[in-house]
Amino acid sequence: MSDTKSIRLTAGVPGPISKELMAKKDALIADAFSIHVPVAIKEAHGALVTDVDGNVFIDLCGGLGCMNVGHSHPHVVKAIQESAAQFTHTDFSVIMYDSYLKLAERLIAKAPGAFAKKACFFNAGAEAVENAIKFARKFTGRQAIIALEGAFHGRTNLTMSLTSKVKPYKEGFGPFAPEIYRVPAPYTYRRPTGMTEAEYVKFCGDALERALITHVAPSNVAAIIVEPVQGEGGFVPLHPDYLAKVQELAKKHGFLVIADEIQAGFGRTGTFFASEQLGLVPDLICVGKSIAVGLPLSGVIGRKDVMDAPGDSAIGGTYVGNPVACAAANAVLDVIESEKLTERANEIGDVFRKRFGALANRLEGMGGARIHVGEVRGLGAMIGMELVRDLATKEPASAEINAIMEKCINRGVIIVKCGYYGQTLRMLVPLVITMEQLAEALDVLEQAIVEVASGR
Ligand SMILES: Cc1ncc(COP(=O)(O)O)c(C=O)c1O
Repeated sequence: MSDTKSIRLTAGVPGPISKELMAKKDALIADAFSIHVPVAIKEAHGALVTDVDGNVFIDLCGGLGCMNVGHSHPHVVKAIQESAAQFTHTDFSVIMYDSYLKLAERLIAKAPGAFAKKACFFNAGAEAVENAIKFARKFTGRQAIIALEGAFHGRTNLTMSLTSKVKPYKEGFGPFAPEIYRVPAPYTYRRPTGMTEAEYVKFCGDALERALITHVAPSNVAAIIVEPVQGEGGFVPLHPDYLAKVQELAKKHGFLVIADEIQAGFGRTGTFFASEQLGLVPDLICVGKSIAVGLPLSGVIGRKDVMDAPGDSAIGGTYVGNPVACAAANAVLDVIESEKLTERANEIGDVFRKRFGALANRLEGMGGARIHVGEVRGLGAMIGMELVRDLATKEPASAEINAIMEKCINRGVIIVKCGYYGQTLRMLVPLVITMEQLAEALDVLEQAIVEVASGR
């Protein structure tokens, strides 16, 4: 490991106070809430997290993708404090506020598509997806929704039903919402042997077209929902040719395209929305996560005619579009713009690609490595590294990823995984991370991977 400039582990991981709190957590909190990092946080700034025992970690996870502008950015904190001191709630449908309108105006201006748009806000990402489906159903007068293999859209009944991965998200939680039809996603790394990437992308487009004959009548389809870069599914960017086919079929049959940009949006992929660089012009876009530094806020931005389809008071919720969260979101946009964080995402992505490429070579050079870099993929700073036990069979290195993550956490780097088999390390780093911090974290990660590859 190179010299540790930011990481400080003085108390052991977990330290004594964290241990005590973890025991309390085990006694008080439902077991389903597993904890990735066995410490309790005291404070966080930028890409650094300090725990209650004084340990300092570099954060490559950003509260699961909510921290594009970094922890406790002073401009955002100030906006939150000022807004909270003014008022904390009215219910927007009782008394409106300007921060909500400003946010709508700014996001509408950023959304792709040369058509009139409107926006509205909710709390969780799942709620945004639920409401996008409601808009689509009301506008089209149709019920069916097409969702992709590998999709993650949330944990409420409808969004859990739209979600693909069975365990831990769905097993035992049925019955699921009806009128959802699943089609393959062009996850090209795991395409059938012998097929080229282009053939597989076409195969997936054809499968969607065929599903409109074999699974659901196109005249019943309200929308297809896609993550332009699948998040939980493994950081899989959807191929532009596939998205072109999606849009062609949607246009032909009169159904809508919903882009779930909850994880990919807000600059992480090197453009404000990932859709922009994939040739996707969605009818509706769902946003969440980094919109408001983890304050509960999500939204739908989309075609005016679609957004105006539900009747009076047909869409809403007591807390939706909270004023403090809207103030935070406007400040987040200020920071993304003034600190050029979309450009920064590309610079960070270049570092990931370079380092992970070199790591792949290092593992192959070792001879007899137990794990290999199967693929490095993604857009901008939204980069995933899929690890396999064998480059030919692509057997997922799931247990090894867990060992790598544990080593990283014990050495001061917070990192999470994704993928069908939990075999992909995903980078959700705050985009304000310094290049020194990034290098330091990647040194730790590389060392952990090399150790696991050598059976240590
Ligand atoms: C792409 C995507 N959609 C929807 C959601 C659900 O968001 P939330 O957990 O805020 O309900 C997530 C959360 O991880 C997500 O990544």
